[in-house]
Amino acid sequence: MSTAEALVQNEKKAPQRIKTRFTELVGIDYPIVQGGMMWVGRAELAAAVSNAGGLGILTALTQPSPDALRKEIERCRTMTDKPFAVNLTILPSMNPPPYAEYRKAIIDSGIKIVETAGHNPQEHVADFKEHGIIVVHKCTAVRHALSSERMGVDAISIDGFECAGHPGEDDIPGLVLIPAAADKVKIPMIASGGFGDGRGLVAALALGADGINMGTRFCATVEAPIHPKAKQLIVDNDERGTNLIFRSLRNTARVGKNSVSDKVVELLRKPDAKFEDVAHLVKGAQGRVLLETGDIDAGLIWAGQVQGLIRDIPTVAELMHRIVTEAHEIIQKRLPGFVG
Ligand SMILES: Cc1cc2nc3c(=O)[nH]c(=O)nc-3n(C[C@H](O)[C@H](O)[C@H](O)COP(=O)(O)O)c2cc1C
Repeated sequence: MSTAEALVQNEKKAPQRIKTRFTELVGIDYPIVQGGMMWVGRAELAAAVSNAGGLGILTALTQPSPDALRKEIERCRTMTDKPFAVNLTILPSMNPPPYAEYRKAIIDSGIKIVETAGHNPQEHVADFKEHGIIVVHKCTAVRHALSSERMGVDAISIDGFECAGHPGEDDIPGLVLIPAAADKVKIPMIASGGFGDGRGLVAALALGADGINMGTRFCATVEAPIHPKAKQLIVDNDERGTNLIFRSLRNTARVGKNSVSDKVVELLRKPDAKFEDVAHLVKGAQGRVLLETGDIDAGLIWAGQVQGLIRDIPTVAELMHRIVTEAHEIIQKRLPGFVG
């Protein structure tokens, strides 16, 4: 084998494991989780992340019914024999989905790891725990992390202000939130929001987390089941390319900047603005149209500030390899150089 061939071979070799309390808890090689994502968290993406040594997550409510979720779990099993999880997001809604039935589908399917997110997960956590399922609860505040720890969850995923989705109302960025949580939370904890490369992974470990959770970065991968134009929007946007909406309604959400989210911000700025004024713009179904057709002005797209670090659309395996290799280099070469 020539030196060049050997180099290529070496490039492709799976990097050494990065072992943390979280990787040991869920049985994965690298402490990298793909967070639950509405319309994106399907078998193609979850299986690719798990096959690459991370933890892929199917998003329960992306499936139109509990039975469809059972089928999606089976489909994911045909694509990977590695551990993967299912996300159950509990949000306030006029017409709540049948949460208990989705939960039953997850339990009946023999899923071993669940990510819960949103409001009052108690009933769900209790049932999952009774069935021996590992529960990772995603939240946005130290106090909520501590209350879910008391509730009996096995790990916390803590989302900083940078994140796509719902960052909560406290506006605490990861640089403070992660160590503040690490000082108090005893169970394994992964850091979420704003992560996209090896530097972020090492930083999260340094701040006291046991790994990272990524959403936006995984949307801009070959396997993410969304339109190429939606992926390109993430690549084209920089770190300023998000809007915070629903602040006045105390249901703050961080979404990608486009004509629709700009309009929502403008309408909600009026002092007497109500949800009804923007309801026609923010429907989940329209966000789905954006993701599936690539019509960038069709609705909202969830995306975080980490867009400023996303410059390409690699395969999940390439991305994972890159993040882990970069993390090894920082830990083994850059950081030791500062000592002595
Ligand atoms: C397109 C998209 C959809 C999302 N949908 C959900 C969801 O349904 N449930 C949930 O708990 N989090 C959801 N999130 C949040 C992610 O799971 C994760 O917490 C967040 O993206 C982390 O921040 P990052 O985007 O900076 O990595 C979504 C994120 C994105 C980008």
